[in-house]
Amino acid sequence: MQKVTFHDHRPDNLSFYDAVIEGLSRKPKSIPPKFFYDERGSMLFDRICEQPEYYPPSVECRMLSRLAKEIASLTGVGHILIEPGAGSATKVRLILDRLRPSAFVPMDISFDYLKSVTRELSQEYPWLPVHAVHVDFTHSLPVPEEVPPGRRLIFFPGSSLGNFRPHEARSFLNLIRDTLGDDGMLLIGVDTKKKESLLNAAYNDAAGVTAKFNLNLLHRMRKELGADLNPDTFDHRAFYNARAGRVEMHLVSRVEQELRINGYSFHFSEGESLHTENSYKYAPEELMEMARNSGLTPVRHWIDKQGLFAIYLLMAR
Ligand code: AVJ
Repeated sequence: MQKVTFHDHRPDNLSFYDAVIEGLSRKPKSIPPKFFYDERGSMLFDRICEQPEYYPPSVECRMLSRLAKEIASLTGVGHILIEPGAGSATKVRLILDRLRPSAFVPMDISFDYLKSVTRELSQEYPWLPVHAVHVDFTHSLPVPEEVPPGRRLIFFPGSSLGNFRPHEARSFLNLIRDTLGDDGMLLIGVDTKKKESLLNAAYNDAAGVTAKFNLNLLHRMRKELGADLNPDTFDHRAFYNARAGRVEMHLVSRVEQELRINGYSFHFSEGESLHTENSYKYAPEELMEMARNSGLTPVRHWIDKQGLFAIYLLMAR
């Protein structure tokens, strides 16, 4: 078996605390979605991906399986394959055999999860050297020094780009462009704009898993920060904001209350919301325009028959 290495670029452990104190001091209150992903949050997200209403993973996986050969014919093989936010690394398995990368560099914010997923992966793909990086990829994409030089391919599926505000998405695409160098490529999956009812259903699954995922942020605050709060006093709320082109998730306080953390006290009025996630949806032309502005040239893109999801192959120039 090839070797597996781990690299820890974890931001200091005050970052969740800082983000919570800062976010609860804002008007309106908000906390960035990356803090959903402790180990329980990562598992809940995997369960969201099994809900019938949450169409992106099934559609994207079907597309990737069908397109793997065509994608490989456009990219070639033997790249250094880098995946920011690799999570359970389910999707990359659909293209590994065709892309035959010379190394795989999964990056994730959840270290325990990254470790177990990486071990499984390297057992399944004994020919593949894996260099796992524990990092908050929104700030940097640190490729370990021991990774041999070679053409890079960044794989960024799952519409994770949608979590960024448009100006942040642009800077993240710039970061990707810089990480790729002059001969790299980006394979990215992004959710499309579509009928509001489908989007609303996708973030309000009947089994209530998305609600649990959203509320997990409050459990995390209690467990890790000793926050004095009762998660049952908050409701999950998600809806498509057509004007902004995004699905928003909120935690809405059912009652007027004080939320206390380490001597701080934050007032919630009844019905006041804590904004926990944006999930931007992009029409193909919007996405490609943004990519071009970051120095990434569209090579080809694919949309499923129902127009639910899009995959783009872009090259650095
Ligand atoms: C992983 C950010 C793409 O925004 O659709 C799923 C996360 N949130 N259901 C998304 C999520 C609620 C997901 N991304």
